Amino acid sequence: MAAEKTILKALQGQVQDVPPIWMMRQAGRYLPEYRATRAKAGDFLSLCYNPELAAEVTLQPIRRYGFDAAILFADILLIPQALGADLWFVTGEGPRLSTLTTPAELAGLKPLEDIHETLSPIYETVKILSAELPKETTLIGFAGAPWTVATYMIAGRGTPDQGPAHALMQADRATFEGLLARITSATIEYLSMQIQAGAEVVKLFDSWAGSLKGDDFNKYALEPARQIIAALKERHPDVPVIAFPREAGQGYVGFAKATGADCVALDNSVTPEWAAAHVQVDGCVQGNLASSHMVTGGQALVDETKAIVKAFSQGPHIFNLGHGITPDADPDNVQRMIDAVRGDL
Ligand code: CP3
Repeated sequence: MAAEKTILKALQGQVQDVPPIWMMRQAGRYLPEYRATRAKAGDFLSLCYNPELAAEVTLQPIRRYGFDAAILFADILLIPQALGADLWFVTGEGPRLSTLTTPAELAGLKPLEDIHETLSPIYETVKILSAELPKETTLIGFAGAPWTVATYMIAGRGTPDQGPAHALMQADRATFEGLLARITSATIEYLSMQIQAGAEVVKLFDSWAGSLKGDDFNKYALEPARQIIAALKERHPDVPVIAFPREAGQGYVGFAKATGADCVALDNSVTPEWAAAHVQVDGCVQGNLASSHMVTGGQALVDETKAIVKAFSQGPHIFNLGHGITPDADPDNVQRMIDAVRGDL
């Protein structure tokens, strides 16, 4: 059946005069209404696990800007927590988790069937959104890719070079690969439940894929994505998957074909001209305006937005940033970007 929604049309390979648009981290601290709801929830994790308020912040950017997609408000680190890791956020610094580096700690993770105990509020958020979103808006669910999630579980925090995860890979490959396998299975169940609750598209965030080189990229970024997508397609053949192997560079070439993804999301370290020639030739791409334009604005924002739309105009494209919008962004610049994409500027 031909899709009605613009995001789904792009994911089916249709070329549209005006590309659909949404924005990574579109519900976030740059919006005053987000900050108010977050304060009401108490803290970030309480917001993630409160279905009414999580749905509310998901809807805020849809009401303000009329984006073509809403992305479920949650976090990639809820999977580690559901598997039994401790998780907390330090204001101004970021996430902290209990570390996992030994076979005993791997064996101590919760069994797969227990993860939904922690994650059931997320499915409830999806259900609320599925009922409340405007009919033209696509609901995107998501999870972190196994490598990226593992880097946080191993180090217990974000790291500039994912050093602890690379070190475990070398020192104890069985534990490292065992952890990736556990996250892979949990991610399949988690995304499948999001789809059953009403997610129309799912996205896999591999934010640290760029630190995997050569064969490691194939084994630990590409292969887990392929396994997750294959399992999801078997259960939900009509639900498109967006893969985001951030900073993959040459690794973007052929990634969609090799993993079965319907769309590859691009960061802004690749030019749209290069990506049109080497990645979009295989199908839909998403991206890739530098999120710094949401802070700096001006004519450069408009020019760069139009250049990206033009470069991808010969194939299926979903407009987005190359990474999440930052808390210091100006909400007016988001409107300028949308106006530039839709041809109103
Ligand atoms: O895109 C969306 O709006 C959907 C919701 C979403 C969040 N995080 C909300 C969030 C998504 C898809 C994520 C993904 C995520 N979370 C990633 C992968 C994507 C990426 O940005 O590379 C990663 C690595 C995380 C882990 C994480 N969560 C970190 C490192 C941080 C702290 C950094 C920061 O910005 O403070 C978070 C917190 C987080 N996740 C916030 C939001 C809106 C900010 C929380 C707050 O309100 O203080």
